[in-house]
Amino acid sequence: MRKKITKSKIVFGLFPSQKLAKRVARKLKYKYSNIIVSKFPDGEFSIKFPLEIKNKEIIIIQSLINPNEKILELLFIGNTAKELGAKKITLVAPYLAYMRADRRFHKGEVISANILARLLSSCFDELLTIDPHLHRIKKLSDVFKIKAKRLTSVKLLGEFIDKNIKDPIIIGPDAESYQWANSVAKHIGAKAYVLKKRRLGSRKVIINVKGFDIKGKNVVIVDDIISTGHTMIETIKGIKRANAKGIYCICVHGLFVENAYEKMIKAGAKKIYTTNAIPHKNSKIDVAPLIIRAIKENKLS
Ligand code: R5P
Repeated sequence: MRKKITKSKIVFGLFPSQKLAKRVARKLKYKYSNIIVSKFPDGEFSIKFPLEIKNKEIIIIQSLINPNEKILELLFIGNTAKELGAKKITLVAPYLAYMRADRRFHKGEVISANILARLLSSCFDELLTIDPHLHRIKKLSDVFKIKAKRLTSVKLLGEFIDKNIKDPIIIGPDAESYQWANSVAKHIGAKAYVLKKRRLGSRKVIINVKGFDIKGKNVVIVDDIISTGHTMIETIKGIKRANAKGIYCICVHGLFVENAYEKMIKAGAKKIYTTNAIPHKNSKIDVAPLIIRAIKENKLS
């Protein structure tokens, strides 16, 4: 007999995460709904909960790719859910934007990670996110005032590589990728090398691909984020010079801005895979099980 849908818990999916949100709701047997988001002629948001949320536990799922408008959308939604008397408001942001600016790199600069965390803490009760770019900030609780849980897709990435790529060598393109590259390699018992990167600008990096033997090997470059793809492209170029057999790129969050995907293929990537934390044609690694488990366990800390 099919278990009945729990009506006191509602999952709301927002673009681009409705498909993921629907799957999470279905598996948890919670009610699912969209939130009605449209715009007035002048560009201002008009947002409406189509269901009664008073005394309900609600879960909003939205990945923050192209984050600026989405953040405003979430602030409106979180505040409104409070005003309408929701019992608990959880934000699941599979990709949490603005985490890379985690210190003032230059005088006068905004530290976006801290401010975003403060804003979201003001209108949600809990946050769940997947592999946030935590580097100089060590824990989400250092910046969030609400319960915030960091989930990791490392095991899923490892299992995917194990199943699909023969005898891989894992490469992390820079020091910040260490935590992903190394953990993935450990997970599948593969060798890992982490390279040194120097960033000269948003679209310019120099990567030192030297000092190891990858001739004739399948190389998998693992990182948390692919944005412009330049980190991957420079790594691919270096690996090609070292005569690797096949070059694969895997990351958690594929932003693929400015045709990054096509440029990486042109540079020599055989295949590029990501998780569906940000949906894309090649987001073959499903993070729904991570979210479902965390919600079931409800141990956000
Ligand atoms: C930064 O350290 C991240 O881990 C990624 O390496 C970076 O965001 C990739 O950016 P891009 O694709 O623009 O080189």
